[in-house]
Amino acid sequence: MSKINADQLAAIQQFACEFARQDHSGHGVDHLNRVAAMIRTISAQEPVDESVALAAGWLHDVIDDKLTDDPASRQQAVIDQLTQVGVDHETQTAIMAIMTNMSFAKSLGAHAQPLSLEGQVVQDADRLDAIGALGIGRAFYYSGRFGEEMYDPAKKPRLNMTKEQYRHEPGTTINHFYEKLFKIADQLNTPTARRIGQHRQQLMADFVASFKQEWRGE
Ligand code: ADP
Ligand code: NI
Repeated sequence: MSKINADQLAAIQQFACEFARQDHSGHGVDHLNRVAAMIRTISAQEPVDESVALAAGWLHDVIDDKLTDDPASRQQAVIDQLTQVGVDHETQTAIMAIMTNMSFAKSLGAHAQPLSLEGQVVQDADRLDAIGALGIGRAFYYSGRFGEEMYDPAKKPRLNMTKEQYRHEPGTTINHFYEKLFKIADQLNTPTARRIGQHRQQLMADFVASFKQEWRGE
């Protein structure tokens, strides 16, 4: 039995896509569509309520503090929407818990609560979208948009830095692979995501190796 029916999910999707339509930082509707497709792929292999994972997947970026100055009011808007659509209170709580605990930064922090299995599926789907061919594309798109260089062999990856040091040290696209993207495959939760992640990891490793060779004129 699904906690959320098809009509309710369609309304949630539409609500979330309104927010995503404005985005040019790699969190647009295309990202949400891929996350939803991957949630379906992974959910087929796990004992989860796919409808709850999909609802959280559509909504996951709405309250992201990178994407809004006012996450508290966004959070209230999500709760109001879920109430209006007729999602019960317990299911709303499950969705909100996924959204607030799934992000990369929070998963490294001391205050992260363990994710439900549905939450693990959503987190896997979101993380898989940052790696592989799509991940390479998103990284270059993001860097270009925010004025980072592609590569500078003299710049070392920003590892083991405080947040403050990190912010002041300019990054490069290639260093982003070492700072974040190459670490993702090991952090995936479900067997299905790990299998897909392994393939995408190899693809990125091959890409970066070729990139550096070509950079040197080889
Ligand atoms: P998310 O919300 O998916 O955890 P981010 O907002 O950090 O991710 O990143 C969105 C996309 O932009 C991802 O594909 C990520 O790899 C890429 N990205 C984020 N920061 C950088 C950066 N400094 N250089 C290159 N790509 C980046
Ligand atoms: Ni996302």
